[in-house]
Amino acid sequence: MYFELSEEQLMIRQAARDFAQTELKPGVIERDEHQKFPAEQVKMMGELGFLGMMVSPQYGGSGMDAVSYVLVMEELSKIDASASVVVSVNNSLVCYGLEKYGSEEQKQKYLVPLARGEKLGAFCLSEPEAGSDATALKTTAIDMGDHYLLNGAKNWITNGGTASTYLVMAQTNAAKRHHGINTLIVEKGMDGFTVGAKENKLGIRGSDTHSLHFTDVKVPKENRLGEEGFGFSFAMNTLEGGRIGIAAQALGIASGAYELALNYARERKAFGKTIADLQAIQFKLADMATEIEASRLLCLKAAWLKDKGMPYAQASSMAKLYASQTAMKTTVEAVQIHGGYGFVKEYHVERLMRDAKITQIYEGTSEIQRIVISRDVLK
Ligand code: CAA
Repeated sequence: MYFELSEEQLMIRQAARDFAQTELKPGVIERDEHQKFPAEQVKMMGELGFLGMMVSPQYGGSGMDAVSYVLVMEELSKIDASASVVVSVNNSLVCYGLEKYGSEEQKQKYLVPLARGEKLGAFCLSEPEAGSDATALKTTAIDMGDHYLLNGAKNWITNGGTASTYLVMAQTNAAKRHHGINTLIVEKGMDGFTVGAKENKLGIRGSDTHSLHFTDVKVPKENRLGEEGFGFSFAMNTLEGGRIGIAAQALGIASGAYELALNYARERKAFGKTIADLQAIQFKLADMATEIEASRLLCLKAAWLKDKGMPYAQASSMAKLYASQTAMKTTVEAVQIHGGYGFVKEYHVERLMRDAKITQIYEGTSEIQRIVISRDVLK
């Protein structure tokens, strides 16, 4: 068992760390305040190869492993979780799905520009009345021979306004329940496809979250991913990897808040010494460090299993469950260690605390992760 990172993995981690400090940190408070999408920074991340990290170079990607992806996600999320969720969705939910299940034509047409970071993708499963219970989705894709007629609405879609390529899950044959669901590649600009208002969110406020509306959108048959009825399995399989990305995002939010709290505790004086000399603070830091390290190991283990081609559904759900709990707990404690300063925006920890919450909700709530894990341990 090796716990050492390769030269290449260390290099990519350092590149992400440098990028986060020099390009993401300036302006992160303002982007959060004004809900401004980090467009310039996303473009730069595309140029660095962060948007198609695990895609083969043959299709415009960087050809890296999932371990490197976890390292990059942690570093970006320490500073700006609104930027890192763009990386996560584009890599794990869109590029991965297209590379694994797309036809050669679909890969050339859609995957290549996404992996190069020239375009962004969105994964459209959730609906107003179907979040955790994803099989209950009501969007329909009626088979019209050479095309599907798409009708319905999707909610809380990351990259909803900025994406060009949307993977949309829709019901074609309700009698077959989840076996009637298809995943269709929908392009921005198709007639009848409109993007709703941007959501005004508690956290990850710089990310671009919208509802989407489909009214008689004609989607060509060749835009279906995989065989007829494969759409739900596609979504579930893709989410297994997505959960590694969100686990690593949660890890980054936690470790970002921890580093700020550690530095602050070393500098802040109270009762004639630095607060790092107080055992009440030392114990908090010890718990934070331990839980962050456990989260990191769970993330890396899930990524390592994926890289080895071994089953990783349970591992990715465990990583997401634990790292998101850790993100919530650690950020609350980081605010507490900062006292009054923690409650104002300039000190960053209040933003990280707000950003942490979504990691317990999207790509499956903590309760969904427990369902996945318990089914696996009980089978
Ligand atoms: N891979 C492939 N197929 C899978 C699978 C997987 N990991 N997990 C389940 N399936 C298949 C099952 O085998 C089953 O197929 P069969 O009937 O042929 O056997 C089918 O899917 C249905 O499975 P279940 O009976 O287990 O379905 P369920 O309704 O009981 O629940 C669930 C499954 C785990 C609760 C699932 O609905 C789920 O994960 N829900 C959460 C959805 C989610 O994560 N949404 C996030 C939205 S995306 C997002 O947030 C992106 C973003 O913008 C950041």
